[in-house]
Amino acid sequence: MRILEDNWVIAIPTETVYWLAGNAYSDIAVKKIFQIKGRPLYNPLIVHIKSIEYLKQVAKDIPDNAKKLAKEFWPGALTMVLSKLSHVSDIVTAGHDTVAVRIPSHPLALELLKRLDFPLAAPSANPFGSISPTSAEHVNRYFWDNLEIILDGGLCERWIESTIVGFDQDTVILYRHGSISIESLERVVGKVILKTKDDVSPTAPGMLSRHYAPSIDTYLTDNVRWYIERFSWLKIGIILFNQSLGDSRVTHEEVISPCGNLEEAARNLYSALHRLDRLGLDIIITERLPDYGLWKTINDRLGRATKK
Ligand code: TXA
Ligand code: MG
Repeated sequence: MRILEDNWVIAIPTETVYWLAGNAYSDIAVKKIFQIKGRPLYNPLIVHIKSIEYLKQVAKDIPDNAKKLAKEFWPGALTMVLSKLSHVSDIVTAGHDTVAVRIPSHPLALELLKRLDFPLAAPSANPFGSISPTSAEHVNRYFWDNLEIILDGGLCERWIESTIVGFDQDTVILYRHGSISIESLERVVGKVILKTKDDVSPTAPGMLSRHYAPSIDTYLTDNVRWYIERFSWLKIGIILFNQSLGDSRVTHEEVISPCGNLEEAARNLYSALHRLDRLGLDIIITERLPDYGLWKTINDRLGRATKK
């Protein structure tokens, strides 16, 4: 607690991915987050709060649908972009008059927030543009020389970042696909408008192409075999949904869900990308998944990690 009051930045597990967290009310701490992550200052951070009651300390003019979504999904993997109160720093929100807010459900993160009298500003604990971390080891590999404290909460349970929504009056707009599917949102608030394309202004950096990229050339395809033929002289890694190809030309194969289970595939995706990224391969070929429900999120992540 003291170290967060003293403007330290630390890594904390959440149910989605690990945080690089600091006092949201301290410009010193917030600047450190941007600096450690190498994140451009135009790219705003999520402010994490401890309770729905606390929301009125950071945001105003809260639409009814935001209240409904908060009741249904908080604590949890939903981030809402709302009108900010003036004391929320422009550095956190990158000059926007909105603030992105979430209550995490991970017991460690939530307990920590409850003991603090300020919210925590936190992006995912990875260098800007690289794969999000879902274990303390991933964070350590990224930041071993410039982060003193990593709280180890094991593997993140929900494995994929929060879903981000904003509002136009009371209309709900989806900015970033995430752990909570659009179908689940629509069950609570009716029609949700999609604004996740790269050609709209990148309000959420999850929307920037190649934001989740491994350092090696990565391709997303319906036809993995064709790519293996095409690049057979290279050191190939493949990520498959549920069935092994057992092709001897492939150096390393990852099957992300042997029993064809949606949640398992989502959970294993980042770990598979992290592992393949370290194997000295020439290319990674990933199989496109059915475009439905949470699969949409996974395809979106793979699409960003790959060449199109
Ligand atoms: O699950 C998660 O959301 C994880 C964990 C760490 O909480 N966080 C995460 O943070 O993915 P980050 O910083 O990688 O992505 C936060 C997203 C960005 O796309 C950012 O642009 C958007 O939230 N965002 C933050 N403030 C915003 C604002 N005022 N208006 C619009 N988008 C905003
Ligand atoms: Mg991120």
